[in-house]
Amino acid sequence: MRFLVALSATALCLATAASAQDAAQLVEQAKRRWTESPHGPMLERILPPTFEPDQLPERKSRGARLVAQYCVQCHNLPNPAMHHAAKWPAIFERMVVRMRGRGNMGELMQEMMAGVEAPTVAEAEILLAYLQKFSQRALDPRRYPAVDLPEGRSFKLACQQCHVLPDPRRHTASEWPAVVTRMEKNMEWMNRVVGNRSEPDEPQLRIEEINAFLVKYARKG
Ligand code: HEC
Ligand code: HEC
Repeated sequence: MRFLVALSATALCLATAASAQDAAQLVEQAKRRWTESPHGPMLERILPPTFEPDQLPERKSRGARLVAQYCVQCHNLPNPAMHHAAKWPAIFERMVVRMRGRGNMGELMQEMMAGVEAPTVAEAEILLAYLQKFSQRALDPRRYPAVDLPEGRSFKLACQQCHVLPDPRRHTASEWPAVVTRMEKNMEWMNRVVGNRSEPDEPQLRIEEINAFLVKYARKG
């Protein structure tokens, strides 16, 4: 009896390890295809490489598996928390049209498109629901009027270049600085303003001010 239990536990471990390896392998294969295309450098910059398949929320769910299957075919893995729920349908639609080979970059991606797969209608529904379920929550300015005061200026300037201003209560005071550091890397990666210019009227990235704002209005505990 004990032997049986041990055996099935081992089998289970092997199965899980195998599927994790499959996912990683799929991502590797897809990545090789687009990084080796002549448009690799452009595609590489669309999304940063900071987000891994095992960081997907509910990573064993159908939605997570579909994201890892379809959404790495042209660029790095997207994080559902990058955009708020209302923003996802239009972005998602743009991506599906592209996967079906009729996107505005169809011409440009012709030589890559040969191996690209598009989700079925049923899969597309699951994908979009998943992206929206784990989406970003936007800051409500009525709840945080300080965002329009001088103390919120740096945060507002820097943190809505790629997505809506995030709700400060998404993280605790001790979590925010690491998120902000990761966003600095995302900015470098995606070639947005990183504050290393000397022109006085260029936007500057004031990390201390951004952290001070987020820490002050962070979720307690
Ligand atoms: C056929 C290639 C292709 C596939 C597959 C693809 N994308 Fe994209 N994606 C692009 C291109 C090209 C861009 C840059 C232009 C643009 O934003 O439309 C992009 C940009 C993005 C962006 C950044 C745009 C923004 O406004 O922030 C996100 C997020 C994104 N894709 C998510 C996804 C998701 C989610 C999937 C899977 C459902 C996916 N992509 C599948 C080609 C693709
Ligand atoms: C250059 C584009 C860009 C800028 C500018 C940017 N972000 Fe992001 N943000 C991303 C991307 C890409 C993701 C998804 C990948 C990730 O989580 O790193 C994301 C995800 C997030 C998330 C959800 C993920 C999580 O861990 O909670 C939060 C919160 C966030 N950003 C906060 C910020 C803040 C605060 C700033 C300003 C300091 C900022 N972002 C500026 C690109 C950007």
